[in-house]
Amino acid sequence: MKPLSYEARMREKADALRKHGHARILAVESSCDETAIAIVDDGRIERANAIASQIDVHALYGGVVPEIASRMHVEAIDPLLEMALAQANCTLDDIDAIAVTYGPGLVGALLTGVSWAKSLAYARELPLIPVNHIEGHVSANYVAHPDLEPPFVCLVASGGHSHIVSVDHYGQYRLIGQTTDDAAGEAFDKVARVLSIPYPGGPLLDKLADEGDDFSFSGLKTAVINQAHNLRQQGLEIDAKDFAASFRRSVVDLLVDKTLLAAQDTGAKKLTVAGGVAANSLLRSELLRRGERAGLQVFMPPKRLCTDNAVMIGAAGFYRLMAGELARLSLNALPSLRMFDN
Ligand code: KG4
Ligand code: ZN
Repeated sequence: MKPLSYEARMREKADALRKHGHARILAVESSCDETAIAIVDDGRIERANAIASQIDVHALYGGVVPEIASRMHVEAIDPLLEMALAQANCTLDDIDAIAVTYGPGLVGALLTGVSWAKSLAYARELPLIPVNHIEGHVSANYVAHPDLEPPFVCLVASGGHSHIVSVDHYGQYRLIGQTTDDAAGEAFDKVARVLSIPYPGGPLLDKLADEGDDFSFSGLKTAVINQAHNLRQQGLEIDAKDFAASFRRSVVDLLVDKTLLAAQDTGAKKLTVAGGVAANSLLRSELLRRGERAGLQVFMPPKRLCTDNAVMIGAAGFYRLMAGELARLSLNALPSLRMFDN
């Protein structure tokens, strides 16, 4: 009898895990400027969360340099595995499957994690699960709220995406709305740059805005005038605090307005938020306040699970595994991977 191929053997292992309904997943994330390895039980329980951020290095250039990102992922990934195993107090023998982000993101950065995960899966005879990064962000909510189940509406606001998604079942998404130009995080970063706030601008602008007055249009207005007439060259300054506050207010109001409309349209009872911008303090408080006033149950991950991490990839990976999805060893990085059919 011909011996089974790696893929056939993994199919059998994955089927056994599915029947059992439990899995300890080692998850890998390397789509942008964070290398991360996590260990997650049953899609819900965080056992380890090891992250190496490259922010300090990219800050020197005012943004992510893809080639540097790829190299730093290569350097960080093995030590992160040791760190994660130590945190979870286990060895590779205790791992049931490997989940890896294969898109969307920077192709070289993604490839580092994908190649590494493929090698480890092959060497250790472990099933490999392909995960969409954005689906990962949404799934951070499952770890933060172990009882949360679909259906729910999710506002996904990250560096590259602002989507409003209806999560109908585990792994089944309908796109309800999206910004047609910049993503929310991108807008925060670009505006921060105008204010001379160092990269990554979003979180620092958020802090600065706490000290500013967001009930004034003068911040935004001044920005426009500034651009038109190049005020800086004339030696005139803009008020960064008010600017930050009114800008943040505009973005948050827009996001919350649209999200509540989407929730109403779909008849949702539960509302969640995900992605780096979900760490924004005003967005969090406004979603909670206005969401609850609209009769919705509001869920959000803690800030540390909003920005890029691998715990969320482990959560998404579990539900992919339970749906019977496995990667082949030919798995490739897909920089523009989509999450929706519509
Ligand atoms: O999800 P994420 O970590 O990476 C991507 O998948 O893009 O999101 C990063 C984005 C950056 O644009 C960053 O400036 C923004 O999230 N961000 C914030 C805050 N924390 C991170 N934006 C506004 N307020 C924050 N507190
Ligand atoms: Zn992300």
